[in-house]
Amino acid sequence: MVNDNKTMEHRSVLRLQCEPLECVRIGFVGLGVRAKRAVHRMMHIEGCRITALCDLVQENIDEAKAIITESNGGSPATYCDNDGWKALCRQPDVDLVYICTDWASHANIAVYAMQQGKHVATEVPAATTVTDCWRLVDTAEETQRHCIMLENCCYDEFELCVLNMAQQGLFGEIIHTEGSYLHDLRDRIATNDDGGRKWSNWQVEFMNSHNGNPYPTHGLGPIALAMGINNGDRMKSIVSCSSKNVGDSLLRGNMNSSIITTEKGHTILVQHCITLPRPYSRSFLVSGTEGFAQKYPIPLFAFAPDSDNVATGELCDKLMEQYRHPFVTEYKERGEELCGRRWIDYAMDCRLIHCLRNGLPLDMSVYDAALWSCLVELTHTSANNGGEPVEIPDFTRGKWDR
Ligand SMILES: NC(=O)c1ccc[n+]([C@@H]2O[C@H](COP(=O)([O-])OP(=O)(O)OC[C@H]3O[C@@H](n4cnc5c(N)ncnc54)[C@H](O)[C@@H]3O)[C@@H](O)[C@H]2O)c1
Repeated sequence: MVNDNKTMEHRSVLRLQCEPLECVRIGFVGLGVRAKRAVHRMMHIEGCRITALCDLVQENIDEAKAIITESNGGSPATYCDNDGWKALCRQPDVDLVYICTDWASHANIAVYAMQQGKHVATEVPAATTVTDCWRLVDTAEETQRHCIMLENCCYDEFELCVLNMAQQGLFGEIIHTEGSYLHDLRDRIATNDDGGRKWSNWQVEFMNSHNGNPYPTHGLGPIALAMGINNGDRMKSIVSCSSKNVGDSLLRGNMNSSIITTEKGHTILVQHCITLPRPYSRSFLVSGTEGFAQKYPIPLFAFAPDSDNVATGELCDKLMEQYRHPFVTEYKERGEELCGRRWIDYAMDCRLIHCLRNGLPLDMSVYDAALWSCLVELTHTSANNGGEPVEIPDFTRGKWDR
């Protein structure tokens, strides 16, 4: 699959470095549940300031503004109409547009923001169609702006530890990985039940018309980084199957399972299930020629030659200490004080601001955002065609191996 736009000259943004920003001025678009937590986090991160807020609901703007005012964070401009996000993107004192709206609107806002010269951070998934994934890549290349997808699971402790180990070669050649989103969310999806936390309508509606994996990036992101996808290997094709649907599931199948094959002959199993009674899991399994790691249901490692000698409990903790990733050392303690178990979001935001302030490449590129997000459409296509293989675009245009 190639991009239609063949006439354009493409300047890669892999490992893009931009002018350092002394203070990162942020405009938030979408101020729902997720964004308000982010606004709160930003109040505790040095070198950034929120200069603009936008939502369609005035109450959300007021609540976000109150968080800022109470922290002496100044007085951001506010926008509360259908085109408010465009005005926010044009606001001169905004460097970074931080998008926390519904899935279908991420790509349009991101593209427009980059066209106005802004960097973009968008919630997951960055886009829901292959066409929009290409628009993100094309626009980032045209404008030479950053576009990062806020995949917070890449900053969890075990995942970062495994990344560290993988980069030091402890697993040998990584042959197979697994990542998933297995989360019993039946109470949130139920529409006629007063208990539990409800999902917004946009989420339920999207799920209702989707037959594949509508939310692949939490499972996929960390294993893609550990495997060096877009950095020595690339995802080549995918087959996807959905189970039958039982109960009052809004998805057309309760369980979706997809297998990706990479250019170098490695495989990735990605699963999605939110409507069966099962314990929370993102799987996170890494299997190489020299070792094995798995996070759920309990974290463990095993290494050659004695792979039956499994390191769990204290032994696992010891290895995690030994291979602790620098981001964990830097951000976990303070993050936990501020956000409890959501410290990974704090680590993610701190890294984003740090890289922008220092003109460094971001931890994840627009190519990662596009690749991980394009599976929303591709799993649907394959599952609708009886699990037929579907080609995965090379968003890097051949630069994945450099
Ligand atoms: N990474 C994670 O762990 C995680 C967790 C929860 C949500 N999310 C993601 O965060 C995003 C937001 O989720 P949420 O739960 O906060 O949803 P939400 O429905 O609570 O919030 C979305 C907000 O966007 C606003 N909005 C929609 N269109 C807009 C527009 N055109 N202009 C301005 N505002 C607009 C809505 O009014 C709403 O307030 C989603 O992409 C979701 O997948 C990620």
